[in-house]
Amino acid sequence: MPTVLTGITTNGSPHLGNYVGAMRPAINLSKNTKTFIFLADYHSLIKQQNPELTHQSTLSIAAAWIACGLNLKNTIFYRQSSIPQIMELNWILTSITPKGLMNRAHAYKAVQDSTTGKDKDKNVQMGLYNYPILMSADILMFNANLIPVGNDQKQHIEMTRDIANKFNITYGESFILPEAIIDENIHHLPGLDGEKMSKSYSNFIDLFVSEKDLQKKINQIKTDSLEPGQKKPKNSILYKYFECFSDDTKIKMYGEYFNDGMGWGDLKKELYSLINTELSPYREKYNELISKPKIVEDFLREGESKAYEIANKNLNKIRQKIGIRPL
Ligand code: TRP
Repeated sequence: MPTVLTGITTNGSPHLGNYVGAMRPAINLSKNTKTFIFLADYHSLIKQQNPELTHQSTLSIAAAWIACGLNLKNTIFYRQSSIPQIMELNWILTSITPKGLMNRAHAYKAVQDSTTGKDKDKNVQMGLYNYPILMSADILMFNANLIPVGNDQKQHIEMTRDIANKFNITYGESFILPEAIIDENIHHLPGLDGEKMSKSYSNFIDLFVSEKDLQKKINQIKTDSLEPGQKKPKNSILYKYFECFSDDTKIKMYGEYFNDGMGWGDLKKELYSLINTELSPYREKYNELISKPKIVEDFLREGESKAYEIANKNLNKIRQKIGIRPL
């Protein structure tokens, strides 16, 4: 029986790209597989040091997952910070991880490459440098074997395998080597300008903007000035949006709208209605949860008591193996 696990860094509120690329597929997976989904709040400290943002983002991301229908029967949903065993495992793994392995991490090298002057490490926090080890601890703590992630995280899963393997060789067979699931069939929603949707490019649509602002944002999606009848669906950013929210029958219909030369304004109205129909029940639930954080807190505590128990059991075994045990 596979165990699926994935984490979301608490760095802001989710956008439509996160919903299409990560949340919706994970929620579908959680319908019939045992799944661990957690809020990577300790990871967020590496990217920003704004306590209010970390706190607010935890509420907003947790509420979004619950509102979008995460199956809480099959899913253990928790904050990373509520499971201190992860931090303990983080140290155990740090102690056996070769520094050379971390030197190769893309995220670390990217900061080095963008630093001028002699000391290429002057902008590198130790948190950023050690980040792949914490991510390994997140995964190995629960012996998860399938990790749905974006392409940018693939290297971290490979590092997790290396670290797990090193532990197994050093202390005896203990960890399953996890695999990344990178679903090429999942559509990726581009940003308003056609680039990758990202908070740092200001080309995103917040998942739960009001209906009015959703229409406004959709109106900003970049289009060309081709005459009606010359529009090619495949070249259009707008068409990619339609794809992300349609089944096979619907996308045929929208493709015909393009081929028949429907104007951009009308196409955008169609798109708004399509997206809003999917999101509006979730939006309502989300707004209710945001106004009642206690409900979200209770959901998380329930998941955390289960996660804590499993982590505790697993960590006890690991402690035995490394020679940290009662005399
Ligand atoms: N690093 C991941 C990201 O930025 C988030 C994350 C943290 C994660 N720990 C994880 C993902 C463990 C999968 C498994 O997207």
